[in-house]
Amino acid sequence: MNNILKENKLLNTRRGFLKSSTFSVLAFLGAGQTQAFSQGIDFKNSMNIDDDKLFAGVRNELMLENNLIYLNTGTLGPSPKAVYDKVTAMMRQLEGNPAAMNFGPMGQEMEKTRAKAAKFFAADEEEIILTRNTTEGISTVCSGIDWQAGDEILTTNHEHGGAETGLNFLAATKGAVINKITMPYPVKSKKQLLDLIKAKITDKTKLLLLSHIETVTGLRWPIKEVSKLIRGQDILFIVDGAQAPGMIDIDVHDMGCDVYACSGHKWIMGPKETGILYMRKGIQDKVNNVFISSNYNSYSASSGTRNAAILIGFGDVMEWHMAIGTKRIEQRCMDLAAYCQQQLNDIEGVNVISSDDPELSTAIVSFTYDKDIKNSEIRKAMGDKNIVIKTLPQYNAIRISNHMFTNNNDVDVFISELKKALA
Ligand SMILES: Cc1ncc(COP(=O)(O)O)c(C=O)c1O
Repeated sequence: MNNILKENKLLNTRRGFLKSSTFSVLAFLGAGQTQAFSQGIDFKNSMNIDDDKLFAGVRNELMLENNLIYLNTGTLGPSPKAVYDKVTAMMRQLEGNPAAMNFGPMGQEMEKTRAKAAKFFAADEEEIILTRNTTEGISTVCSGIDWQAGDEILTTNHEHGGAETGLNFLAATKGAVINKITMPYPVKSKKQLLDLIKAKITDKTKLLLLSHIETVTGLRWPIKEVSKLIRGQDILFIVDGAQAPGMIDIDVHDMGCDVYACSGHKWIMGPKETGILYMRKGIQDKVNNVFISSNYNSYSASSGTRNAAILIGFGDVMEWHMAIGTKRIEQRCMDLAAYCQQQLNDIEGVNVISSDDPELSTAIVSFTYDKDIKNSEIRKAMGDKNIVIKTLPQYNAIRISNHMFTNNNDVDVFISELKKALA
């Protein structure tokens, strides 16, 4: 078969898919109804479906290799097939008439993602910028603020390198002084956290950066209380949300932080290279970065050309979460994590370093162990059994991400293999 024939065949096959799917490019062009995930569970009407069935349905939407127990969403999440199919179909369609598509109907659809994100984050649309990831969001802010040499940054020693990049840039280019709180683990109470902040803030502190959910132990910072604590002190409060949205329900206005940056490709399970930067209206004038200098639209003179397909897919996946219910997802994740913690606590010599306080804990459960075995060896042993975990090299610890598509049985299999690996 020559290449053109092959290409036509591929297109016809795809058209077959598009016709049969209500979640199609035709729908996107307005010729039909945009309804994702037409087969299996009706996520938009899932209120009366019980959790086991609903979340098994979520698992069925994924393309994870057979029998893979995927406990590493904290690094990168799996996307639903319907989102992947739509993104790839749109990328293919764009190639038929690139400029007309990208700056025409797909461009308009892409812009709607900001409105969907505003709903998802409980923000106003004018406060939402579509980025490529958390790192870019934080860097955009850090490289766009006024700074006097000697001004201080307060953060912790448990932040991710992606967030630290922006802070280090401020230190290297503008003489910022970075102060780090040494984090205890496991954390015992909210008060302990607030006391740590109080003890370290000085009258020179101009920026506070905390993770909403910490990458090391999964600690959930009480952002609302911290916002209240520093109110009126002229401190820019940046929250690194990489590990939170998609796992827990988010309301940025209620939290009261100035900036919230996150990725779409972790717990939101969106297309890779997607992110959100939220900037509260009151601080927008203080951030002057070239990327957002025209306006905050998904496409602007200063953003340059975007990949409309992935940004549209990002909007779809946020809608999917909202259809299932972000609070329901949070509860599911918390239940899974509580079970995981309990099973780990039952293994002698295993020390869970995540908080067990329901207000401070999340779906991320991390642990160390007394045996003299490298965590990379444990990861390898798990990998051989089709179980994907994350190692935390600095602590010789292991991190487990319990997202909604996993279940207690996955935890049981993991625990049983862990016991063998530690034996
Ligand atoms: C807390 C935190 N911040 C930032 C990042 C960086 O995310 P991205 O690579 O999507 O920018 C991560 C990634 O794991 C993270 O856990």
